[in-house]
Amino acid sequence: MIGIVSAMPEELAAVVEAMHADEVVEYGGRRYYRGHYGGEPVVCVVSRIGKVAAATTATILLERFSPRALVMTGLAGGVDERLAIGDVVIADRLIQHDLDARPLFPRHEIPLLGIAELPADPALSTKLAAAASRFAPPAEVVALGITAPRVWRGLVASGDQFFGSVEASNALREALPGVLAVEMEGAAVAQVCYEHGVPFAIARVISDTANHAAAVDFARFLRDACGPYARALVEGALGS
Ligand code: ADE
Repeated sequence: MIGIVSAMPEELAAVVEAMHADEVVEYGGRRYYRGHYGGEPVVCVVSRIGKVAAATTATILLERFSPRALVMTGLAGGVDERLAIGDVVIADRLIQHDLDARPLFPRHEIPLLGIAELPADPALSTKLAAAASRFAPPAEVVALGITAPRVWRGLVASGDQFFGSVEASNALREALPGVLAVEMEGAAVAQVCYEHGVPFAIARVISDTANHAAAVDFARFLRDACGPYARALVEGALGS
């Protein structure tokens, strides 16, 4: 069984449509769709937005369904200036950009865990990257001007903040050199999986470039383009 998590219903709808659900388990305000995708047992859930929502949902998923691995797909803002809308970022590690317990612990370090960056599972991440490389944009994606999306692997930052200004993105780049993209859940899911010893991988499609246009770009991408990406990425993660 593989667990599949997205933050918003639009990010998961195409996956839930494509899977065969045997059962819907309602718990703690979430719906866990348990069934099969292709030949593979899966459980899919919308976590809602933010680190607390994501961490509690991931914890329940692990506790109740005991998946052998967890995959998160969704959207992110591009922070590295080389990234374009429609590119895919596979996190090789994740960090909580808003975690700062100085002077008790170094900036970004998770108190009493002793690390700041949470490593994703290399093999599962490679499968997601391969699926992203094979992705052929369908008409609704091409309609947004996305014809040849690129695939990136690197650092993803998460926190309870939507980035919608150049100033905020510049500050993030300065605080975390090398960061590729920003979103609001990945590092929370990563921490839960890390602490439970469950392999995880996180794929994010760039919906906006975390600037003044981010909210408009994000809404358009969410409405028009995220479905085919989510399906392609999840299918890539399944199968041994
Ligand atoms: N997810 C998608 N775009 C984002 C942004 N600009 N900031 C935070 N999370 C995002």
